[in-house]
Amino acid sequence: MEKFVINGGVPLHGEVTVSGAKNAALAIIPAAILCRDVCRIENLPVSISDVRYMISTLKYIGATIKYIDRSTIEIDSRNVNSYMISHDMTKHLRASYYFIGALLGRFGKARVAMPGGCYLGPRPIDQHIKGFEALGATISVEDNAIVEATSSKLFGAPVYLDIVSVGATVNIMLAAARAEGMTIIENAAKEPHIVDLANFLNSMGADIRGAGTDVIKIRGTENLHGCTYSIIPDQIEAGTFMVAAAATRGNVLINNVIPKHLESISTKLIECGADIEEYDEAVRVSMTERPGKCNIKTMPHPGFPTDMQPQMAVLLSMAEGTSLISESIWSNRFRYTEQLQRMGARITVDGQIAMIHGVEKLKGAPVKADDLRAGAAMIIAGLCAEGRTEIEDVMHIKRGYENVVEKFSNLGADIRMVYSVDPFDINKVG
Ligand code: EPU
Repeated sequence: MEKFVINGGVPLHGEVTVSGAKNAALAIIPAAILCRDVCRIENLPVSISDVRYMISTLKYIGATIKYIDRSTIEIDSRNVNSYMISHDMTKHLRASYYFIGALLGRFGKARVAMPGGCYLGPRPIDQHIKGFEALGATISVEDNAIVEATSSKLFGAPVYLDIVSVGATVNIMLAAARAEGMTIIENAAKEPHIVDLANFLNSMGADIRGAGTDVIKIRGTENLHGCTYSIIPDQIEAGTFMVAAAATRGNVLINNVIPKHLESISTKLIECGADIEEYDEAVRVSMTERPGKCNIKTMPHPGFPTDMQPQMAVLLSMAEGTSLISESIWSNRFRYTEQLQRMGARITVDGQIAMIHGVEKLKGAPVKADDLRAGAAMIIAGLCAEGRTEIEDVMHIKRGYENVVEKFSNLGADIRMVYSVDPFDINKVG
């Protein structure tokens, strides 16, 4: 069993470089099978486990992968020959359902097991299905376990999303890129990774306009080709280091970022008293005083990202005064508050609202990572706390943060990964 052990109380100082965006990579990797050619993907966070699972899935359906360097791969999808993906492949992560849109675009059919991923509340896919059906596909969901999509031909069509969904927007874009005619997605998600996917598909010869606004227009084509593409920096990894710098009252230069993508996070940090300097591709975050309180409501982009909510809660746990966080995307995203309470935080949760009464200091404790971003929050809490924090279930963190121990260590943090045997593991008892 792997654990992170942190001795807290050290302000972070120095420079860190952010990796390529996980959620863009997870959309772009399956998109590569829409052509029968070679795509070179740069700035890919190759060592996070979500990306490794997506690459394994590509291999499973017949693609060949060449590793060029630590953040570049080539995907040769000429020999992709299967439209079926089993539960063994999809159980690890939510984004494996992007293969439904990609395989539908490539073969006109897909048979993909329902995806796994972090438990943040019910995660229906009705809007994805609505989009595929609008394009002319027939969808059946067998025993709530396997999605089968078939079509003799996909035709572009208008699709209005009843709810702003990143996943549905991506999946419909993937299928529509190869459909005949124009698809118009209304009430589309506007996240930076939606724009990145559109830019990647356009580099392959697609005709996609409006990504980053509510209305995305996709004129489908059969003629997609290989390309070389560099993924955008990870907005949430950058935000995590920004909050960690402020919460530890440190001073950190965060390189390889797009400051525009960080505006909602910067605004809230400034409201709490942090100093932020923006450069072309970097931000410096510093904080000297105890943070002030602020209220946060998570919203689809350009609102405050739900994926930064747990990390900000840690900072607010040590703020002067009482802050409110209102979570409007996921119904089960406050589980981490129980872990923070073990560290001395004063948080009460009522439905989708958390009320945080700031305390002077957190204290180290054994905690666990309930999911990816909850795990990031536990790291920040451990870095700020007095004494030793041990974080279990770090596999969640490794899904989305590349070289996280190394990156925090280089900023002066006392953090290390240890392997331990669970004394209560009944499989190990003779
Ligand atoms: N929803 C529906 N029906 C659908 C699809 C979504 O009701 O058909 C609901 C969801 O239940 C949720 C809301 O719509 O309440 C938003 O879900 P969305 O589809 O936008 O989320 P997602 O695509 O499953 C992506 C990110 C998440 C991030 C959310 C919100 C990826 C691979 N995942 O999830 O990232 O929290 O958007 O921004 O892009 C993470 O990186 O830690 C993470 C969880």
